[in-house]
Amino acid sequence: MFRDKECGEIRDSHIGSVIAVAGWVFRRRDHGGLIFIDLRDRSGICQIVFSPEVNASAHTAAHDLRAEYVISVSGEVSRRPDGTENTNLPTGQVELYVTRLDILNEASPLPYSMEEAADAGEQLRLRYRYLDLRRPEMQQNLIMRHRATKLMRDYLDQKGFIEIETPMLTKSTPEGARDYLVPSRLNPGHFYALPQSPQIFKQILMVAGMEKYFQVVRCFRDEDLRADRQPEFTQVDLEMSFIHQDDIIGLMEGMLLKVFKEVLAVDLSIPFQRLSYQESMERFGNDKPDMRFGLELKDMADLAGKGTFKVFLNVLQSGGMIKALLGKGMAGLSRKDVDTLTAEAQSFGAKGLAWIKVKNGFESPIAKFFPEDVLAAMARRLEAEEGDMMLFVADRPKVVNDVLSRMRLELGKRLNLIRPGYEFVWITDFPLLEWDDEEGRFQAMHHPFTSPLNEDIEKLFSGDITDKGLLSSMKAKAYDIVLNGFEIGGGSIRIHNQHLQSRMFEVLNIAEEDARSKFGFLLDALQFGAPPHGGIALGLDRLIMLMAGVSSIRDVIAFPKTQKAFCMMSGAPSVVETKQLRELHIKTDVITEKKAARPVCDGL
Ligand code: AMO
Ligand code: AMP
Repeated sequence: MFRDKECGEIRDSHIGSVIAVAGWVFRRRDHGGLIFIDLRDRSGICQIVFSPEVNASAHTAAHDLRAEYVISVSGEVSRRPDGTENTNLPTGQVELYVTRLDILNEASPLPYSMEEAADAGEQLRLRYRYLDLRRPEMQQNLIMRHRATKLMRDYLDQKGFIEIETPMLTKSTPEGARDYLVPSRLNPGHFYALPQSPQIFKQILMVAGMEKYFQVVRCFRDEDLRADRQPEFTQVDLEMSFIHQDDIIGLMEGMLLKVFKEVLAVDLSIPFQRLSYQESMERFGNDKPDMRFGLELKDMADLAGKGTFKVFLNVLQSGGMIKALLGKGMAGLSRKDVDTLTAEAQSFGAKGLAWIKVKNGFESPIAKFFPEDVLAAMARRLEAEEGDMMLFVADRPKVVNDVLSRMRLELGKRLNLIRPGYEFVWITDFPLLEWDDEEGRFQAMHHPFTSPLNEDIEKLFSGDITDKGLLSSMKAKAYDIVLNGFEIGGGSIRIHNQHLQSRMFEVLNIAEEDARSKFGFLLDALQFGAPPHGGIALGLDRLIMLMAGVSSIRDVIAFPKTQKAFCMMSGAPSVVETKQLRELHIKTDVITEKKAARPVCDGL
């Protein structure tokens, strides 16, 4: 028998019993004849002691134990001598005196010490991911992920959802990132796309009368990666028939309430707040506001227009926007600090950062351009008091909102404004369409199967669909859920009527043929009695990242990839044999192992 208890389970109540435990040698200390080892398994750590008086040969053998050797031992559990207890460990009151030692496996010298693993470079940790995953923090993250996922499965099962798998080898889906393609050997020149989401299949499952579908599903997107984006990630994806937006919202709130309660012992209060897209943009400058602090953006166009500052007047004249943020207590910043702040705004895309300190009146290079009462009105709007600073950005609306929403986060951190805890918010009433400058046409903001609001459906048929103003004003039955400034999910009510769907393609300037070749099977299905339906997908990795309190989704994914979508452990992607390429009827410029440069490792 390897063990009859797990390391982390041993307690006072076992004192006097003989117990076997197994695990990895974590830390080891030699003390005046006694050898102490912290033995680690998934459940935790316990201290085992080798004494020459208890078992001389085991004690001798223990001299050879090295870090991460795998051993099984048995012996009697004793209370630790007074003053040697470890209150940080649940097993810290006791230790086990070894009477039998079996070395189950040896370990080569480690590339980095397990105790300093958290500080080892992440590239090294990813290369030796199996060592990294031995760390208790990482194990806890994956265990939390498992528990949360299981609770979500149980919740959805209880609500009548059934989990149905959809194909991985499929056609391009409409999420709009670049596809991962898989060549078909049997159909030369043809490719499958790995799904960016099961979007079309889940809608077809509604046409198929499944009514309530869900899936914990891997999705693939070839896009620029960041701390919260991986090329393959997991969605908790669902779709329902005969429902409205509020049904989906209520369902998700109930699910998150349960998961947070049972996994984190946190009581969320539902319903979550809701903000329209427009209100979110106005107050926070983006559609994923961190609601744990205020520091809202204030529109200053009217007041800025009452002065003679050229930069502001020019921006206003060209239809731009001027907004400001309050720098609480920042009037004391030195010239150099202000320059750094300006450089930061510029790195976010601003042309400059105008500032006014409230300090014995108003102190600023631009104060002279404004009458005193206008300066006072600006201060009132921002609730700026003596000792504060007002920060302005003037530009196109997109730039102003983008820069100030990022400055807001920076200042929130710097000024310690962010409350601990979890603040959810639903963002609703997204624009239906978004103008794409590069392509010179409108794109669907969510995806082309998203239903417009009822009043806009009429306008789509009766209005002039070459009218940019009209199209820009249309809203969608689309909703995102945001947690602490991260978009953790998004969904919509779909178009279930083929005439409306065709009209959408027309508006999007997608030719009938094009639509047919891409999504023909969905269009066909919509002809045969599609029920009203809608759904949502939660980004599981992001949700767990926030629950675990880590700053990258890589820490909650067992085998993640680097920024260049490279797996440090397996070495994927890699060059394949010429024979394989030939079978796939693929010719590339780099076909031999020698020619193909090994992907270089990059940032994370
Ligand atoms: P969407 O594209 O908004 O919607 O994706 C849903 C959620 O998935 C997460 N997510 C990601 N997580 C990690 N890495 C990525 N590369 C990544 N991309 C997206 C986000 C996001 O909110 N089919 C629709 C859903 C629907 O309409 O029902 C969809 O995929 O948290
Ligand atoms: P200038 O007139 O270029 O010397 O700029 C005067 C101040 O206005 C400086 O503090 C600039 O950083 C700031 N500024 C310049 N352009 C902008 C802008 N687009 N928005 C906000 N502030 C700006």
